[in-house]
Amino acid sequence: MPVLNIVIAPHPVLKTMCMPVETVTDEIRTLMDNMIETMYNAGGVGLAAPQVGETMRLFVADIGEEDEDGKIKQGTPYKFVNPEILEMSDDLFVYDEGCLSIPGFYEERERPNTIKLKYLDETGAEKTEKFSGLMSFCIQHEIEHLDGILFTDHVSRLKRERVMKKLMKEKKQGVEHYHVHGEHCNH
Ligand code: NI
Repeated sequence: MPVLNIVIAPHPVLKTMCMPVETVTDEIRTLMDNMIETMYNAGGVGLAAPQVGETMRLFVADIGEEDEDGKIKQGTPYKFVNPEILEMSDDLFVYDEGCLSIPGFYEERERPNTIKLKYLDETGAEKTEKFSGLMSFCIQHEIEHLDGILFTDHVSRLKRERVMKKLMKEKKQGVEHYHVHGEHCNH
């Protein structure tokens, strides 16, 4: 499966409201398989369609599993089409948020710990499922991508401008990311 290019912020496609998928076709399934490969290659735990230049409401995620030595290895790759959060819990999950489209920047964030999610799976079947902890955090981050929201939209303006300036400078210099897997989880 080919590894796709990850769009780095700032970029208009990352600020676009994505369109619902009408039918889960072979083309969509291939795109999601390629996105999973791309996410693993970049050491991420989630990847949304606009991050590979596609303005469709779908994303992939795998938060990994601990092996016997406590190291994180690949877990179950999830594919979500037309996701919709039906319920959110009042209790919160705190995590150091990161994003594959905003390399090198992390900020602590609180999000609802448990969500009830409606989505289409890769066969096009509608599912409703509950998710908690990191998986719930990741799903909420990815759904924001589908609405053109980046997690830096939630930090102070000063910080956001500093991060975007640094990324623009790196783009001009042709700095490439993701040759090394970092210690942080990215989305
Ligand atoms: Ni992200």
